[in-house]
Amino acid sequence: MKKILEQLSEEMGKAFEAAGYDGALGKVTMSNRPDLCEYQCNGAMAGAKRYKKAPIAIAGDVAGQLRGSAVFCQAEAVAPGFLNLKLSEEYLLQMVKAMASEPKFGMEPPERHKKIIIDYGGANVAKPLHVGHIRPAVIGESIKRICRYVGHEVIGDAHLGDWGLQMGLVITGLQDIQPDLVYFDESYQGEYPKEAPFTISQLAELYTAASAKSKEDPAYKARAMEATFKFQNGVRGYRALWQHIMDVSVEDLKKNYASLNVEFDLWKGESDVRDLIPEMVDYMKTNGYAYISEGALVVDVKEETDTKEIPPCMILKSDGAALYNTTDLATILERMRLYHPDEIIYVVDKRQELYFEQVFRCARKTKLVEPETELRFLGFGTMNGADGKPFKTRDGGVMRLEALIRETREEMYKKIREGREMPEEEARSVADQVAVSALKYGDLSNQASKDYVFDIDRFTSFEGDTGPYILYTIVRIKSILGRFEEQGGSLEDLAFLPACGEAEKALEMALVQFNTMIPTAAEEAAPHKVCAYIYDLANAFNHFYHETRILGEEDEGRRNSLVALLKLTKDVLETCVGLLGFEAPDRM
Ligand code: ARG
Repeated sequence: MKKILEQLSEEMGKAFEAAGYDGALGKVTMSNRPDLCEYQCNGAMAGAKRYKKAPIAIAGDVAGQLRGSAVFCQAEAVAPGFLNLKLSEEYLLQMVKAMASEPKFGMEPPERHKKIIIDYGGANVAKPLHVGHIRPAVIGESIKRICRYVGHEVIGDAHLGDWGLQMGLVITGLQDIQPDLVYFDESYQGEYPKEAPFTISQLAELYTAASAKSKEDPAYKARAMEATFKFQNGVRGYRALWQHIMDVSVEDLKKNYASLNVEFDLWKGESDVRDLIPEMVDYMKTNGYAYISEGALVVDVKEETDTKEIPPCMILKSDGAALYNTTDLATILERMRLYHPDEIIYVVDKRQELYFEQVFRCARKTKLVEPETELRFLGFGTMNGADGKPFKTRDGGVMRLEALIRETREEMYKKIREGREMPEEEARSVADQVAVSALKYGDLSNQASKDYVFDIDRFTSFEGDTGPYILYTIVRIKSILGRFEEQGGSLEDLAFLPACGEAEKALEMALVQFNTMIPTAAEEAAPHKVCAYIYDLANAFNHFYHETRILGEEDEGRRNSLVALLKLTKDVLETCVGLLGFEAPDRM
């Protein structure tokens, strides 16, 4: 089904033509004055000069053509030349019916089907996830789901930071407390134990202590760098420890991401491209892209039109070591070879924007990517505390993501308990489920590039622009539908009747925006558009609900039609929250 504004503009275009004007003037938009009309058209003003006629006269001619229109029940020419429009209930009904019967609520497939890789999450192995990791995980997951829903093939890749100094730090810390471990015996030839010599919490402690020590003690840092060099270059015992760190960490990462309904298709990382690096470096050298500057191997990426300084992209340090850039470029090479994507989207902290500009330019210049493949940087802002600074624990430390999730669950549990009778166990599981919506919606409802303030009280509230409010609306509808079925009603084949009254019409008008909103949200990689849509829809529904007797409606046909509308609203809301990455319980 066509988008509503396209349908309305088509009808308006015909009216302009019938009145003797260019049909292209008939562009219909949402109303600027919802108190006066639902939609409007400013084409008469645009045509005034061309037709040397007063806009109001043109608008009057067009309005005359719309008398008896099946689409508009009202088309009024008002000074200085607007056309104020109201939709006919009958026409709206046709759209609602189409929406309920067509796949994906009448959304048209995209013009071009794309293969998209989304690089998101970006956790660093060996370091515990902290609150800063919530944004790339939550935003990336939602973009993945939205793009997949509209019909693209989407591959989500965790792109773990698993090849750097943090691993060397852990190994060094371990060596200090357990120097006799077989991994450190360079003459050892046998097999290494299957079991890791640490648990996840010991790993976190090792990392925290080693990282603090390396900041104060240069000799310690040098040792950590040497350990890094050793596992990177395949020294057996070090590589075995590296593998243990990977296994223990990734298992924990999976658990944490799962608690936020975040799932990756690929758990690849920087380490996966280690064997591609020599080949890539060679290629860049032989083709004259890379040259030695002050000992390091670099590729120039500045362009004449630059207004700010874009430094060269460094490929290898003077000691021959690979950098973050190197693994990102090699990953582009690998992704092109393995998947040949039309687009790669990077969901990364916006402070890395300049870095990605360098990487993208370098990949283009050296032809690691084909010209048709789009590289897209989607930078997100910071999650701040009430003081406007990056979110911290009460004593000023970095907060673990686990702790943030735990606190939100607790808060949600308290709110669920207030004034509700619910068995303890159910209250806990409902609270956990709703807490995910509080966290995710609190994040996703902001435009990703902006910073936002984490406000646990607001995010967990059942009122206002929040996840729990949306879920509460879904639960409310579920309960009415449940009662309808208990009373012997069936949710199959319910016939829709035209809307009766403003609130019902407003709900239908909110609903039919779906197939306009979703393609835009996908195109712009903008989950906040889904949030804005469901917030409007939930408001329209709740207003309608307070105004309307539903199960108490005596006319059976009308009652069935109201129930059909409820069911459609619920299906749409559930689909949308699924795209945001959370779901509604049966009751709350
Ligand atoms: N691990 C990185 C960090 O902590 C984020 C990874 C982002 N993705 C990428 N392809 N560089 O900053």
